Amino acid sequence: MKKKLFIKTHGCQMNEYDSAKMMDLLYERENFELAKTEDEADLLILNTCSIREKAQEKVFHQIGRWRKIKEDKPGLKIAIGGCVASQEGNEIIKRAPAVDIVFGPQTLHKLPELYKKKEKTNENQIDISFPKLEKFNYLPIAGKGEPSSFVSIAEGCNKYCSFCVVPKTRGHEVSRTIEDILNEVSKLADKGTREINFLGQNVNNFKGTFKGEKSSLAKLIELTSKIVNIERIRFTTSHPHEFKDDLVEVYDKVPELVSHVHLPVQSGSDKILKLMRRRYNAEKYLSLIDKIRKVRPDMSFSSDFIVGFPGETQQDFQETIDIINEVKFDESYSFIYSPRPNTTASEMLDDVSLDEKKERLNILQSRLNQLSFGYSRKKVGTNQTCLIYGQSKRDPGQLQGRTICNRIVNFKSNEHDLVGHFANIYIQEALTNSLRGKLEN
Ligand code: SAH
Ligand code: F3S
Repeated sequence: MKKKLFIKTHGCQMNEYDSAKMMDLLYERENFELAKTEDEADLLILNTCSIREKAQEKVFHQIGRWRKIKEDKPGLKIAIGGCVASQEGNEIIKRAPAVDIVFGPQTLHKLPELYKKKEKTNENQIDISFPKLEKFNYLPIAGKGEPSSFVSIAEGCNKYCSFCVVPKTRGHEVSRTIEDILNEVSKLADKGTREINFLGQNVNNFKGTFKGEKSSLAKLIELTSKIVNIERIRFTTSHPHEFKDDLVEVYDKVPELVSHVHLPVQSGSDKILKLMRRRYNAEKYLSLIDKIRKVRPDMSFSSDFIVGFPGETQQDFQETIDIINEVKFDESYSFIYSPRPNTTASEMLDDVSLDEKKERLNILQSRLNQLSFGYSRKKVGTNQTCLIYGQSKRDPGQLQGRTICNRIVNFKSNEHDLVGHFANIYIQEALTNSLRGKLEN
């Protein structure tokens, strides 16, 4: 009889990608199938996130709920993966003895082995090492050919921004080879994928080799655009410091590259950017935006922001609002600063009060929403070519697609054959986070 697996994923797209790989691995190579609920599972996996304090708190709450299930079902195994696992290792089992297996983002391919060892010996299994890129040699090529698929091109990060745990939890930056990536992309394209989203913490610093020589993200994008059926290419996330001229030029050369990029600025204050160790100032960031807009005038930019970083004054915060007004960012993410273990910022005095942080976040988010809604409104009355992703989550009578600038569009249709294809949608209405339209032909 097949064993049943249930995975819960916290955090970023990288974690979503890793969880999909775990499922492929356990379904295809081991005798597992999907559990419909947590109660019927034989193996519960939590893929964790430690980027902010709140994310980390969620982990032990979740384990607490699963422990209750285990009390009635002693054969059940609980495995904890991802960034909290990498950061805490054995401490997780010390604090939560119901946990059987702890593995990191770079050792998820060892999950079947760890599971079997636990079953055989009943000893807890922990492997949070960083064997460079080894996992890619063990994982089956993922994907069922969804219209849009993620492909991880690089793992880890060497930037050591002063606030960030990622370099510690995901290890040093390593890039896959271009041949390996193109092989994965071609297989996905054969199965029906039309859009590729290259993933990494810092994808524009990609240094994978091509024919044995060090190459670049620009080259990878050019080669990918030549693969039949790949009609859109995205990448996330980029660091402004490494957004080099060859990458800017690709926007001119490769029409498949979408007119949207997530380019986190974090703050508009040079003083704070320096304390964050971001390696650029506001002027450099703005001149990069200008360069990209010169080759792609309809480009839209989104960003991440941190408010209330140690030492952030009202003036520094105002400079963040100024850069938002200057760039006119589209749909962005913003967070209250929270000190993370083993980061240099955690040694700085966290001197902005929580009330002040919350107020700044409110001001910033309402400005971002205003701008974002402005972009949506401008689309009303236009026709947009959208890649149709599938049924709308809220209403099965509607389909959902994305514009080239990354806006979600919902429209009434029961033509399920459209999924995985491009359609021309006339935009009728702008909502806060999406557009509504009708199918044109
Ligand atoms: N490599 C990616 C992902 C970083 S994590 C990048 O450069 O964008 C995603 C976002 O979380 C960051 O951009 C930052 O805005 C936020 N973040 C990271 N650490 C944080 C912390 N300690 N407190 C608050 N926000 C944080
Ligand atoms: Fe984190 Fe900075 Fe890398 S935000 S993931 S250390 S680029």
